[in-house]
Amino acid sequence: MTKQTSDTGLVIENITKSFGRGAIALKNTDFQVVPGEMVALIGASGSGKSTLLRHVSGFLAADVGSGAIRVGSNMVQKNGQVHRQIRRMRSDIGFIFQQFNLVGRMSVLTNVLTGMLPRVPLWRSLFGLFTPQEKQEAYEALKVIGIEALAYQRASTLSGGQQQRVAIARCLVQKAKIILADEPIASLDPESARTVMDILAKINRDHGITVLVSLHQVQFARRYCPRTIALRMGEVIYDGPSADLTPQHLRTLYGASVEELLDGTETLEFVSA
Ligand SMILES: Nc1ncnc2c1ncn2[C@@H]1O[C@H](COP(=O)(O)OP(=O)(O)OP(=O)(O)O)[C@@H](O)[C@H]1O
Ligand SMILES: [Mg+2]
Repeated sequence: MTKQTSDTGLVIENITKSFGRGAIALKNTDFQVVPGEMVALIGASGSGKSTLLRHVSGFLAADVGSGAIRVGSNMVQKNGQVHRQIRRMRSDIGFIFQQFNLVGRMSVLTNVLTGMLPRVPLWRSLFGLFTPQEKQEAYEALKVIGIEALAYQRASTLSGGQQQRVAIARCLVQKAKIILADEPIASLDPESARTVMDILAKINRDHGITVLVSLHQVQFARRYCPRTIALRMGEVIYDGPSADLTPQHLRTLYGASVEELLDGTETLEFVSA
């Protein structure tokens, strides 16, 4: 596939979100992601990672009067109002979820082809009619992620790691310029997790796609993402090189449960290594 140079960075300006009874899920969140960056979003359970990603995709509106979010030149939301053209804007944004979100009874290739739906006429998509050229494009995307041999298998027969790779291929045919991945490896064994992160890093590098990925395991952030943004109770408490995260940062983020986040191959002392 040809290299796409992403012109789509991300600007998050002073976003606050409260859910009923004054519970604040995001507090004055403010940062930018430069086109082509691969950034990790970390934080304990309930710190606001998914809420933040849902704001970027326009599925959630921030509090009235609060800030703005831009993806490339598209103003996704401003002052607590999601843009009326959000559906069109979403064609630039690829999503990857913890639970893969494939249609299990459809073939791998058809699942990848659904990434084209924003681009093909409605009547064709309703009947699943894709041109040979479109099918070839989907097949090429499967080659990029290394599972073209499974193209005609039902998606439900694939392992979790393979299904997540199909979800990445779907983002490629969608021609997403930015990928928002919400804990894409949380349900995977360590080897599959590494493969999926390797592929995300590859498409970031080779296709210039900006990646913002939320992760539970800090060592994956350190290994794959040059920059980490850390949330605690909806506030950004760290934004900088992943390599500079200290044990003190991690204790502040995760409290006593910090040891559980490391997989046994690393200790808290890894930072000084
Ligand atoms: N629809 C909602 N209604 C009420 N509260 C919500 C809603 N969605 C999220 N919250 C609250 O907002 C806070 C942030 O939740 P969020 O799901 O963004 O955390 P997270 O960092 O993704 O956690 P996890 O690591 O468990 O996925 C939590 O306190 C959560 O209970
Ligand atoms: Mg979450």
